[in-house]
Amino acid sequence: MTLIDVPVGLGSRSYRISIGTGLLAEARARIDRLSGARRIAIVTDETVAALHLARLQAGLGDRDSTPVILPPGEATKSFAGLDALVGRLLDLGLTRSDLVIALGGGVVGDLAGFAAAILKRGLPFVQVPTTLLAMVDSSVGGKTGINMPQGKNLVGAFHQPLAVWADLDCLATLPAREMRAGYAEILKYGLIQDAAFFDWCEANAGRLLAGDTAVLAHAIAQSCRAKAAIVAADERETDDIRALLNLGHTFGHALEAETGFTDRLLHGEAVGIGMAQALRFSAARGLAPAADAERLTRHLKAAGLMAWPHEAGIAADAAPRLVAHMRHDKKATADGLPFILVRGIGDAFVAKGVPMGAVERFLEADLSA
Ligand SMILES: NC(=O)c1ccc[n+]([C@@H]2O[C@H](COP(=O)([O-])OP(=O)(O)OC[C@H]3O[C@@H](n4cnc5c(N)ncnc54)[C@H](O)[C@@H]3O)[C@@H](O)[C@H]2O)c1
Ligand SMILES: [Zn+2]
Repeated sequence: MTLIDVPVGLGSRSYRISIGTGLLAEARARIDRLSGARRIAIVTDETVAALHLARLQAGLGDRDSTPVILPPGEATKSFAGLDALVGRLLDLGLTRSDLVIALGGGVVGDLAGFAAAILKRGLPFVQVPTTLLAMVDSSVGGKTGINMPQGKNLVGAFHQPLAVWADLDCLATLPAREMRAGYAEILKYGLIQDAAFFDWCEANAGRLLAGDTAVLAHAIAQSCRAKAAIVAADERETDDIRALLNLGHTFGHALEAETGFTDRLLHGEAVGIGMAQALRFSAARGLAPAADAERLTRHLKAAGLMAWPHEAGIAADAAPRLVAHMRHDKKATADGLPFILVRGIGDAFVAKGVPMGAVERFLEADLSA
């Protein structure tokens, strides 16, 4: 049952994000409306296949579908993983009128989406996100790609899906830690431009993390609306608007790099700390009230997320290494690194030309706070 439909307005590449329960069971009727594909490849990972693939296949009924099951984890989102996947899709004999369904978290969505973008110069695909993070972030907006030894997401393409189906039933099997990590990205939309939504998050985080369907549907829809509006205004991140989505990410990526992109610190957890740092840095520069940074810190803790780098085991002397990681950020230009800062909760902006020395001094204090 669809609870909420969010349109993504991109001219001829427009599509809908459907958020609800039982969506996998309706797959046949949904595909019939979208595509006359003769063959459907369902790309997924072993974990998700064991939990949710049968429901999707049952939902597709007698439509010809073949699963392609990959090892779970970020390592799959690599050139080797792409090579293997594209080979298997070619072996299935998919043509440009066939269809790829990405069933999984952001790893599967980014990799399968990129394979669909380049296979025979572009096959249509449908995103079926199964993690909270994928439902509110990675499945929306058309960014696809893989990691390189030089850094994450350095190779990829913009390729918009035909549709996104966020089936809330999939979240019932998601580990609590992954739920909290996804929640950090939801909170991000409130911090960027919607103070009322931040208030709502404070009041509803408990029910959301406990899996309340109505609360989840509202939070996911609000997040998708916010991201869709930003993507519609700046599809290819050519001006500053889409960059706002990086709130907490410059600090967060440096923390992820410092922890070696391992399970020690999930991306969403790093973004939670990074957003708290962005607010503390904004306050330290006199741009935002310190009370707003403190309020975010309190809420992150209440939601079971971290707010300080030391909680993730980051050493007190890490500031120079974190700054070095930031200099390698793919958003870095000759003028330095743009930082997403805030004037307060719900009011983020792009700050250019922030001196890296000031960032390092802030980090030194923040790491030993
Ligand atoms: N394209 C974009 O715009 C964009 C935006 C944000 C993040 N990303 C990318 O997304 C990736 C992270 O996505 P993620 O957090 O979804 O990670 P993920 O895909 O690795 O999923 C996390 C783990 O949860 C498991 N899992 C997935 N669904 C499950 C379910 N319903 N029940 C139980 N287990 C389940 C997976 O097998 C995996 O082990 C990163 O590679 C990141 O770069 C992309
Ligand atoms: Zn993120």
